[in-house]
Amino acid sequence: MEHMEGLCVTDCEQCPELVESRSRIVNGVGPDDADLLFLGEAPGAKEDEGGEPFVGRSGSVLDDALREAGLARADVRITNCVRCRPPDNRDPKTEELANCRGYLAREFELVDPELVVTLGKVPSQHLLDRNVAITNEAGSIVDARLGDESYRVLLSVHPAATLYDRSQREGFFETIARAADLSGLADSTDGQASLDDF
Ligand code: URA
Repeated sequence: MEHMEGLCVTDCEQCPELVESRSRIVNGVGPDDADLLFLGEAPGAKEDEGGEPFVGRSGSVLDDALREAGLARADVRITNCVRCRPPDNRDPKTEELANCRGYLAREFELVDPELVVTLGKVPSQHLLDRNVAITNEAGSIVDARLGDESYRVLLSVHPAATLYDRSQREGFFETIARAADLSGLADSTDGQASLDDF
C-alpha cells in the first residue's frame, strides 16, 4: 500500500522495521517550488513526534545557519532520504533507502530546485551513489541524477556534526551561506526574515 499525493507520502508499508518504529510518515516541508532544497537522512525522535524534518537539536543548528545566511526556514524546502524514523536512530538500511527513493525522485521532480544541499554522509552517498568522506568533501559541488533528472548538489556535513565537534561549525555555516548565494536566494529575499529577528 504505497500512496503519494503531490509531494506527500500518505501511506507506505514497504519497510517492516520502519513501520514498527515510526509513529507517522514525516514528509518534506517548505515551498513546493523552492530554489533551495536540503536533504537529510531520516527523521529522529523529535521529527517523528512533530511530523516535520529537522525540528530537534540539528534543526536548531540548521535554522541558525539559515538565519545567518539571511534566510528563514520557510524560504527553503527540507526533506529526508527516508521518511520514517529508524529504530534507535540507526542509519537507514540500503533497502530502506531504495524503497523511499521513488518518493524522493518525485519530490525533486515537482519542486525542481536550483540547488540541493546534502546534510551529511548518508544523503550524499545516496545521491552520488558512491562512498563519500563527507568531512573532506563538504563544500564540493557535483551533479547527481535522481529519477530522470540531474540536479546540482552542494555537499555539506550534517548539522549534528557541529554539536559534537565545535570546529565544524564555521565550515557548516559557510556552506549554508554559499548555498543561499548559489541558489539565488541570497539576493531574492526581501530581508524580512532577518528583520524579524530583531
Ligand atoms: N537528522 C536528519 O538527518 N533528519 C532529520 O529530519 C533530523 C535529524
